Amino acid sequence: MVLELSGEYLIKLENITKEFSGKRGRVKALENINLEIKRGEFVVIVGPSGAGKTTLLNIMAGMDRPTKGRVIFAGRDYSDLDEEELAKLRREKFGFIFQFFNLIDSLTAFENVVMAALPTDLPIREINARADELLAEMKLLAKKHRFPKELSAGEQQRVAIARALINQPEVLFCDEPTAQLDETIAEKILNDLIAINNAGTTVIFATASETIANKLRRYATKMVRLEFGKIRNIETLRSV
Ligand SMILES: Nc1ncnc2c1ncn2[C@@H]1O[C@H](COP(=O)(O)OP(=O)(O)OP(=O)(O)O)[C@@H](O)[C@H]1O
Ligand SMILES: [Mg+2]
Repeated sequence: MVLELSGEYLIKLENITKEFSGKRGRVKALENINLEIKRGEFVVIVGPSGAGKTTLLNIMAGMDRPTKGRVIFAGRDYSDLDEEELAKLRREKFGFIFQFFNLIDSLTAFENVVMAALPTDLPIREINARADELLAEMKLLAKKHRFPKELSAGEQQRVAIARALINQPEVLFCDEPTAQLDETIAEKILNDLIAINNAGTTVIFATASETIANKLRRYATKMVRLEFGKIRNIETLRSV
């Protein structure tokens, strides 16, 4: 049995501020963000374009460093980790899906999925088996040898999901994953993500779409509203 001590969080953001220096001076992309996410949560981050959603995801995932504040993942403070250690953490613990699928055009669906596991020390047979299993779950086994441009947008996003899951991440970060998809396909992708969360993976989902946020409202554990780099409010919808 896993004891979840109260006050014990998988990801904790403390007073995160992020500034970028641009041509017209410094831009404050995030200001004083405090957020605690427990294992197994499905967190929706909603806010208009430019609110800071991608910046927040990047900082949570250790892809970018905050100007001020701390990020703690499973008790580890990112500021204690060097770039190589952070990269290892990302590779082993996190999966990512994006608006523009980011698949490699010259590789097949299967190869795109396998690629993500090559830096690990898993035996290639295990990697191939996992890739097949994930592509089967995504209903893509019959199309595994197709190249991204021979797949529909929804199918490409499912390849990207399989790729994100191959290293069995603890957290799946989703940055506008349905923005390029029509409504029915978007809904299928949302259902896939809900199933992934049900199976135990923590999901953090950013969107500028109120429609998508509303669809997830019935399922999400938390709804975080971001505006001008600040948290406007956090709604707790259910506990994990
Ligand atoms: N690398 C960067 N250099 C300078 N400014 C940046 C950089 N990245 C983001 N910004 C600025 O930070 C703010 C937040 O950007 P961010 O991409 O996080 O917003 P977002 O909520 O993801 O928007 P969208 O819905 O359009 O994806 C914006 O004002 C943006 O212009
Ligand atoms: Mg964004």
